[in-house]
Amino acid sequence: MNVLEAIEKRRSIRRFSPQPIEKNMLYELVMGARLAPQAANIQPLQYMIVHQKQLLEPVFACTRWAGYLKDYAPKPGFRPTAYIVVLINEDLKKNGNDTDAGAAIENMLLLAVEKGLGSCWIGSLDRKQLTKLLGVPEACKIHSLIALGYPAENPVWEEKEGDSIQYYLDEEHRLHVPKRRMNEIIVPIQPNLEK
Ligand SMILES: Cc1cc2nc3c(=O)[nH]c(=O)nc-3n(C[C@H](O)[C@H](O)[C@H](O)COP(=O)(O)O)c2cc1C
Repeated sequence: MNVLEAIEKRRSIRRFSPQPIEKNMLYELVMGARLAPQAANIQPLQYMIVHQKQLLEPVFACTRWAGYLKDYAPKPGFRPTAYIVVLINEDLKKNGNDTDAGAAIENMLLLAVEKGLGSCWIGSLDRKQLTKLLGVPEACKIHSLIALGYPAENPVWEEKEGDSIQYYLDEEHRLHVPKRRMNEIIVPIQPNLEK
């Protein structure tokens, strides 16, 4: 699978099989995150890897799913089997922004595809509860988390028709994710070289 194929295959997965993920795979995702581009190479990100059975449900309780759909959070038996929590260490970078995290997280999401894993990047979180649950160090704030597991759904992206960018379920309960068309996102240059 080349990079473009991985990009096309990667969709947010919100139904997982119960098969656990090998711990080493989770480390490998963080190894990929470590090498992402980082502003001024400060690398303020840190990671908590959650795979312990007794933590999975309490972490799940801190997550919110699929805002555009009614009742599409994964039910018991279809929930993530691991999480990677992305932290910004503010001792390393005050007011650390989203950009560093975005680059690192996308590396993890694409590596997950290569490993046959499904993932969902979750920004809608009860951060206070999660901070307490995991004992997040004081210097760190939670950026977001990646929910992981072997996929038990097969969403598909499609060219956006009409105005809506909202993902939706078809009659077979398959998730469709509209993406803006190329001619909508490429802006023509209007050159002006005059001094
Ligand atoms: C910063 C960020 C936060 C997100 N937070 C959530 C979330 O809290 N819950 C959720 O179900 N999906 C979340 N997503 C996943 C998006 O809904 C998803 O990426 C989008 O609908 C496009 O689908 P795709 O990932 O399959 O391309 C988040 C994605 C990003 C980039």
